[in-house]
Amino acid sequence: MSNILVVQGSPRGERSHSRRLAEAFVSAWQAVHPQAQVTRREVGRALIAPVNEAFIAAAFYPEPEARPQVMQADLTLSDTLVEELKAHDRLVIAAPMHNFSVPSGVKAWIDQIVRIGLTFNHSLDNGVSHYEPLVQGKKALIVTSRGDFGFGPGGPLEHMNHADTLLRTVLGFIGITDVTVVAAEGEESAERSFALSCAEAEERLLALARTF
Ligand SMILES: Cc1cc2nc3c(=O)[nH]c(=O)nc-3n(C[C@H](O)[C@H](O)[C@H](O)COP(=O)(O)O)c2cc1C
Repeated sequence: MSNILVVQGSPRGERSHSRRLAEAFVSAWQAVHPQAQVTRREVGRALIAPVNEAFIAAAFYPEPEARPQVMQADLTLSDTLVEELKAHDRLVIAAPMHNFSVPSGVKAWIDQIVRIGLTFNHSLDNGVSHYEPLVQGKKALIVTSRGDFGFGPGGPLEHMNHADTLLRTVLGFIGITDVTVVAAEGEESAERSFALSCAEAEERLLALARTF
């Protein structure tokens, strides 16, 4: 049975378009999977701790099995978020574009779930780094909203879109390579164009809900 983790990244609540679109998707998906579990992880309106020195020392401790108990505490949130990610086979990240990338809460979540030994491994082969993804069997959907138009594939601002590329790179790095992006664009342009873009995004999401 599938279950779905929804990471909510907008600092906005009811006014958030990425939230609303993601919820429309989840409702449609639930209609297809009535028994499925839906978990929501708030990272836009709840503080996800940024990486600090204690976290780095604990996460990269040379022998994780011998990691001192006191260091283990610095990884509690990260352990929870990694377990949560691994416990779901479908992932939705709902997030606006902020300054050509993802909002800081989403970046903080990324920094907590990319964990050596848990979601990826690293080894050296004759001095050359080798990375092994440790997350398997998942599909991801990114639902995003942007102020301007043209950040999608082939668009005039595609080269400035560091949000989708970041998410695809990070998810691929840990083993989630099946990633779909659905975007509404133009909140800061003419109201009518944005409404049209939202309607198109919602149509795509409702269609995707049948096969995701
Ligand atoms: C701090 C901040 C930075 C933003 N940066 C961008 C940007 O780089 N490019 C863009 O097109 N829109 C940008 N926007 C506009 C948002 O992406 C847009 O309003 C989006 O629809 C918000 O989604 P939400 O309603 O889910 O929060 C920014 C908005 C904020 C608040």
